[in-house]
Amino acid sequence: MPSSFYITTAIDYANGAPHLGHAYEKVLADVVARHMRMRGRTTYFLTGLDEHGQKVQQTAQKRAIEPQVLVDEVAAVFRAMLTDLNISNDDYIRTTEPRHKRVVQDFLQRLFDKGLIYKGQKTDWYSTRQEQFLTDKDRDPDGSWPEIYGEVTQTTEENYYFKLGQFQPWLIEHIKTHPDFITPRFRQNQVLEFLKEPMNDLCISRPKSRLTWGIELPFDSGFVTYVWFDALTNYYSAVAEKGLWPADVHVIGKDILSPPHAVYWPCMLKALGIETPRQLLVHGWWTVNNQKASKSTGNATNTLGFAASHGADAFRFYLCREMVVGQDADFSATTFENRYKADLGNNLGNLVNRLLNMVGRSYAGVIPAAAADEELEQNLRKLWIDTEKKFSADFLEYQLSHALEALWVFISAMNAYIEARAPWKLAKSAEPADRARLDSCLAHVAEGLRLVATVLTPVMPATCDKLLINIGRPVATYFDGQLAWSNVCTGSKVAEKCILFPPVEPPSVIAQA
Ligand code: ME8
Ligand code: MG
Repeated sequence: MPSSFYITTAIDYANGAPHLGHAYEKVLADVVARHMRMRGRTTYFLTGLDEHGQKVQQTAQKRAIEPQVLVDEVAAVFRAMLTDLNISNDDYIRTTEPRHKRVVQDFLQRLFDKGLIYKGQKTDWYSTRQEQFLTDKDRDPDGSWPEIYGEVTQTTEENYYFKLGQFQPWLIEHIKTHPDFITPRFRQNQVLEFLKEPMNDLCISRPKSRLTWGIELPFDSGFVTYVWFDALTNYYSAVAEKGLWPADVHVIGKDILSPPHAVYWPCMLKALGIETPRQLLVHGWWTVNNQKASKSTGNATNTLGFAASHGADAFRFYLCREMVVGQDADFSATTFENRYKADLGNNLGNLVNRLLNMVGRSYAGVIPAAAADEELEQNLRKLWIDTEKKFSADFLEYQLSHALEALWVFISAMNAYIEARAPWKLAKSAEPADRARLDSCLAHVAEGLRLVATVLTPVMPATCDKLLINIGRPVATYFDGQLAWSNVCTGSKVAEKCILFPPVEPPSVIAQA
């Protein structure tokens, strides 16, 4: 395994406010990035903003401001979301930055010089909302255009085209010989299905008469490049001088897998003689009360407000726990509050307080050494070994919900262990054997919590730091040598009390957009 790890998210369109889908993707990538850092891999985590295009130009016009002023505003809002969610990105790329434009123009010029970009003329149906040309295949069975395309109009114009079609055989072969390229694997079929039809060449420009807010073609100043040649290149332009290419993982939503990321991007890179990214991690869509979260609909549930009311960590946990990576998931205030109260408050939070109480009362706040080693203790340690294996394996396949599920089985087992040991009874007993059991019980719970907080740090960084500090341990910054059951907590001084998940009111509902 190479020691460096380069992970990206899609860059969000600067034509609206951030929503749950944007938040989720950043959290997913952040949790993976933090996990890889703790594994000791030199991690570079990139996210950013997709700032060009017709919609930005139109919105700016309507508001009578320069598009740059508009995207500066939007960038500030998106970046504030990253701060609110405790996202640890190393870089933020904006497609209006000179470092990006330079690379886009260099790519275009190189492909033009190779004869892979040519000028052509076409009359076609065009969807402004999707910024794409449509064919009759895109129509509904009754002949109308599906609603997702918005207004569809016929357009004839000269444009530049990229000879995408000639890379089709190579791409099919590449996908078949790199089964991990598209993850989860079931998404591969959709791409191979798409590749069964001969591919058209890709229109990569817009005449300036129609669109000025874009990157000028280096070989024809009457045109700008638009959408994918501009946006996809961010992954490369941001690290062009850092020697980090190829990316290990592009985290994206299912709507931009095929064709953009699974077809255009690898073919562009192939044409340029640049290595393809190693993996596309494709997540599903969030719905809110069973409606797709998006800029255009506007849902009444103030989803992002839960990060403010319940804390970024609870929000991060909920998103990772609730969505099986690859599948869709539904956000609701009810499931959020249930997870907050049950998984976090009752299961994890109470366990911490039980420990602090007992250690405070019976040991003046200093964690004892494990003395008895009976079946209950042995079972708990065995369960940890299995849990850690499963957790790591799931994580490396990006199955965070499964990893967390397994971890919570272990947390529940610790609660059951306490119930079985009944330390509050042991504390009253004068028997030396009971005292040994009490020592062990508290030592084991402390150790179990240390292990849980260590592996959970990438998901809930601030909470796990707090938990570890409250049981007298340093915060966790790496995994190596830290995940085995040990006695390191013995002698640690615990805090008197630690409320990790206080009862809170849900955020207020916002008006429909
Ligand atoms: O597509 N649930 O930008 P975008 C989960 N600029 N994920 C969602 C979602 C939802 N309801 N809605 C959107 C773009 N997303 C381009 C990308 S990359 C070179 C250019 C995801 O703001 C979506 O799938 O429409 C995408 O991965 C990301 O949010 C940005 O979407
Ligand atoms: Mg979108």
